[in-house]
Amino acid sequence: MAMATQPIDQFSARLQNGIKTVLGGKAPAPRRVKNWLHGTPIHHPAHPALVSLPIGALAVASALDALWLGNRRKRAWAAEGGRVVTLLGAGGALASILTGMADWSETDGEARRLGLVHGAVNVGTFGLYAVSTALRLGRKRGDSVPAALLGFVGTALLTFTGYLGGEIVYKYGTDVNHTAWDEEQRDFVRVMALADLPQGRLTRGEVAGVAIVLLRDGDSISALDATCTHAGGPLDQGTLHDHVVTCPWHGSQFCLRDGSVEDGPATVPERVYDVRVRDGQVEARLAKV
Ligand code: FES
Repeated sequence: MAMATQPIDQFSARLQNGIKTVLGGKAPAPRRVKNWLHGTPIHHPAHPALVSLPIGALAVASALDALWLGNRRKRAWAAEGGRVVTLLGAGGALASILTGMADWSETDGEARRLGLVHGAVNVGTFGLYAVSTALRLGRKRGDSVPAALLGFVGTALLTFTGYLGGEIVYKYGTDVNHTAWDEEQRDFVRVMALADLPQGRLTRGEVAGVAIVLLRDGDSISALDATCTHAGGPLDQGTLHDHVVTCPWHGSQFCLRDGSVEDGPATVPERVYDVRVRDGQVEARLAKV
């Protein structure tokens, strides 16, 4: 975990705490909103799905504006179309900013620094589009040269922030499933002696080189991947409550019985293992889904 030493880190840490206080408090209602912003209920990050709306809509708006400026007398329809599409894009941008803020509030290190720049430019771009939309709405046919010019600047900035967003995901692995490349062991293999598996405590084991976390509860043993799908936190070092493990890094919660996400920021469930005991040895294999 990164230390907040530089001014940008200190500012980011304060801003993250503010976001989490509003969206991530203990009360169920804000937690539910935050989970939806992450995409936890749909098992898919919401932000990348939503950003395509403003990027697509605002690029089309700029194309329509360019057509209109090419012949303002004959192509009034293009200005009208630009107004509708800009309105759609501005709405999508707002949704993208909210989901992006929720995801960013759970980042660390370089991804957090880059994410702060990405978010700040996006908020500025949203401001440009808000002004552009207001100017268009103030005209009978949406024909405003300043609005079109603001749209061109906004589209250029969106391309830049899209590039930064790609860096955050592809270079720093933010919101990538951290178990995606793990080995799929489909036959039972030995994990440990049953005598070494304590009752009621999260215990780390290994299946074909993949770390797993086990819980022995009476005669039943549950097991999941030990790597948190959100950002790779060690679940065996998490806290346990009622067959639910809480990740020590950002607080995602997973059911040990079926791997489902009980609370975000994680969106992807954990992989579950079948466990059996043979001759005093605990054996496990990846469960079929
Ligand atoms: S690593 Fe982020 S919640 Fe587990």
